[in-house]
Amino acid sequence: MEKQKRPGSAAFVIFGAAGDLAWRKLIPALYNLYLDSWMPDQFLVLGVDRSDMSDSKFRDHLRKGVDQFSRRGKSESKEWSAFAENLFYLKADLRKDETYNDLSKRLSSQDKKWDTHANRIFYLAVPPSMIESITEGLAKAKLHKDRERARVVVEKPFGHDLESAKKLNQHLTSEFKESQLFRIDHYLGKETVQNILAFRFGNSMFEPIWNRQHIDHVQITVAERVGVGHRGGYYEQAGALRDMIQNHLLQILCLIAMEAPVTFDANEVRNKKVDVLHAIRPIFPEQVHHMAARGQYGGGWIEGEHVPAYRSEPDVAEGSDTETYASVKFYVDNWRWQGVPFYLRTGKRMPVKTSEVVIQFRPVPHQTFPAAALLDWRPNRLLIAIQPEEGILLRFGVKHPGPSIHLSPVMMQFYYREAFKAKPPEAYETLLLDVMWGDATLFMRADQSEAAWSVIAPVLEVWGSVKSTDFPNYPAGSWGPEEADILIAQDGNTWVVPTLLQCREDIAVCSVTTELES
Ligand code: BG6
Repeated sequence: MEKQKRPGSAAFVIFGAAGDLAWRKLIPALYNLYLDSWMPDQFLVLGVDRSDMSDSKFRDHLRKGVDQFSRRGKSESKEWSAFAENLFYLKADLRKDETYNDLSKRLSSQDKKWDTHANRIFYLAVPPSMIESITEGLAKAKLHKDRERARVVVEKPFGHDLESAKKLNQHLTSEFKESQLFRIDHYLGKETVQNILAFRFGNSMFEPIWNRQHIDHVQITVAERVGVGHRGGYYEQAGALRDMIQNHLLQILCLIAMEAPVTFDANEVRNKKVDVLHAIRPIFPEQVHHMAARGQYGGGWIEGEHVPAYRSEPDVAEGSDTETYASVKFYVDNWRWQGVPFYLRTGKRMPVKTSEVVIQFRPVPHQTFPAAALLDWRPNRLLIAIQPEEGILLRFGVKHPGPSIHLSPVMMQFYYREAFKAKPPEAYETLLLDVMWGDATLFMRADQSEAAWSVIAPVLEVWGSVKSTDFPNYPAGSWGPEEADILIAQDGNTWVVPTLLQCREDIAVCSVTTELES
C-alpha cells in the first residue's frame, strides 16, 4: 500500500450523521485532511440520518462543528465552500431495506460520474443497537460484496461484555471479511500513542533494558477533568472500566509490553498485541479487591468552580453504582515481564486532563555513594506524555555541582511542539486516512477486542454483583479514591503526580516541579 500518495476516490457514508460524533470529530477531521491535501481528488460524504435536513442545512450545521472543534479553529469561507460541495444529506430510515437500495443506486451513479470504482466507507456513528440492522441492510443490498473497496467502520463501545462482543463479531464476520472491518479505538490514532512503536522499535538503545531485569513497574494514567456531561445515559451502562480500560488503556499497555513485530504489517502488529493480552495473568474473583479499585466522584471544586456529584448529573440514577474511576493492576506472564506490575488508572473529574505512561526503572544493584549523597536520589524514570502535552522525558541522576558528592535528579526532554513546530494531526485524521488507504494496523481485530474483554471480565463480574458501599468516594478535583492509593502502596509504590502537564508555558520550571513532587 502506497501511503505517501493521496488515497483513491472515496465515498464516505456516515450513518448517524446528524449526531455528535460527525459534528465534533469526523467532519473536522475530514476537513483538515482536505486542507492538508490528503483527501482524494474525487470524494463525497453522504450523511444518513432520520432527521429532516437539506444538503445546505447539513453543511451549515457541520461548519459550526468545524469552527468549534477543528484544530485549525474557524474555517475560511473559500476553503470551506470548496470542501462543502462534496457533502450531502440523505434522510432515511435505517431499518428499511429501501434505504440501502437507494444508497446502492446513488453510489453506483456516483461511480459512473467519476468513471471509477471508488472505495466505499460505511461509518457507523450510531448506538450499538443499530449496528446489526445497518450491516444487514448493507449486505442485503450487496453493498458488502466488493471485498477490496467496501469497508465498515465500527465505533466503540464494541459490545458490553465478552459474550456480546463475540456475538457482534460473529454477526459482522458472517457478512464481511475481517479485512473490511475497522473497529475504532481513537487512542491508537493519537500521534504519541503511535510514537510508542517508533520509540521502541526504531531505536536500539532502550530495547536491551525493556524488561523485568531493568523495569520496576509501569503506570498508565488517563485522567480527565470533565465529568460525564450529557452522556449520563450511556455512561450508566458503561462505567470507567468498560469505557476506558477495556480499550484505550489496554491498547497502550499492549504497545508498551509487546514484542517487536517482524514487519509493520497490520496483522503482524496486531498478532503481537494479542500475545500480550493472552499473557495477562487472569484475576480470580477473590483477588479483585486487591487487584482493582473503583470510585465515583462526589461534588467538588475544579479551578475555583463548584461541580456536581456524578449522581446529580443528567440521566444518572440517584443511587447509581457506576464507577467513574477505575484502577487495575495487571501482570503480563511471559519471559520479558514476569513479576512487573502494570498499574492502570482512569477517572473523570480529576484535577487535570492528562494521559501518560511512566516506566520506572529499578534502582542500581549496589549503591556506591554514601547515604548523605543520596538524599535527593530518585529512580530512573521514562515518561511518555500522550496528551495534552506530547513528548518523552527521561529522568536520571547527576552530580550536583559543588565540592561534595550529592546526586540530583534531572530531566532530559523531548516535546513534539518544540521539535517539530507543528501541531500533530488529530487522532481521527490519522484513522480516517488509514481507512481510505485500507490499512487496519491501528484498528482492533476481532480476537483483540474479545481478548481485552476477557482480561477485565472478572472485575466486571465482581463489581457488577457486589455493590459499592462507599460511593461517592472521591471529591471532584482529586486524584481518585483512597483504595487506589492503597492498591499501589501494597507494592511499596505511589502514583506519579502528573504535575508537569499543568505548567506547559515554562517547561524548565515544570520539570523541576515534577522532580520535586514525585
Ligand atoms: C472515549 C470515552 O472513548 O474517550 C469518553 O467514551 C472519554 O468517556 C474519551 O471522555 C476520552 O478521549 P480523549 O481523546 O479526550 O482522551
